[in-house]
Amino acid sequence: MYTTMAPMLVQAKQEGKGIPAFNIHALEVVPMMALTAAEKNCPVILQASVSTAKYIGFHLLTAVVREVVAALEIPVALHLDHAAKLEDISAAIDSGFSSVMFDGSMLPMEENISRTREAVAIARKASASIEAELGIVGRGEVTGSNPYTDPDDAARFVAETGVDALAVGIGTHHGQYKAKTNINLDVLKAIHEKVSIPLVLHGGTGVRDEDVRTCIRLGMHKLNFGTELNVSWVRAAKEVFGAAELNESLRGLMTRCNNAMADTIRKKIDLVRF
Ligand code: 13P
Repeated sequence: MYTTMAPMLVQAKQEGKGIPAFNIHALEVVPMMALTAAEKNCPVILQASVSTAKYIGFHLLTAVVREVVAALEIPVALHLDHAAKLEDISAAIDSGFSSVMFDGSMLPMEENISRTREAVAIARKASASIEAELGIVGRGEVTGSNPYTDPDDAARFVAETGVDALAVGIGTHHGQYKAKTNINLDVLKAIHEKVSIPLVLHGGTGVRDEDVRTCIRLGMHKLNFGTELNVSWVRAAKEVFGAAELNESLRGLMTRCNNAMADTIRKKIDLVRF
């Protein structure tokens, strides 16, 4: 069932559970992701970065997701991840994405608030859900700058923008898969005390399993996993394609890579639906 993100997160919050959000990097993985979530009876958010949405095509991606999930009983949302431009938010909404993220985290606070409010207005017109970000989720190496979201700022940001979910900086990093991430649970606890809407864990790859569960207990109900899924596909691909005959069916080769990613998806679902 194709749906919006907000009610899924509200229910997850009531149940004390997490909703996994899996990053799509290519169209090929979309049916496998949805069917694996259905097999586990787990509501799921399928999300694409702006680059991936443009690579696949906004309309094609929406059409495939809608078609694949139409017959499924689990709720599935299609979400645009980290859009920094309102025109990309509009492109996603116009093509039928049921959820978007406006990422103004690099902007000064006042500008982040005002641009996010514009994004909220665009989303609301189409009854779509919206996530925003305050604080820094790094990329790659840990830098010296303070990545943490200020709890009072978070409370004000939520009150003034009306977003459905908020991504906050607690020390996670996108794309980190070679080492474990040290997250600051005290910061998360302080944010959770001041913010009642569902929070979002970005950079889920590399976060220890026990920390993911603590994050859920501390108000994070959308848990993003991208790199680890990609790594499992590419690792399988190196082996499978490396050993393949040149005339071997691409279908069979890709299915084996998809199966490897599906195993990682099952593990993440078991992790967040405890
Ligand atoms: P990872 O790629 O580190 O799992 O992060 C995914 C994410 O947060 C997408 O926004």
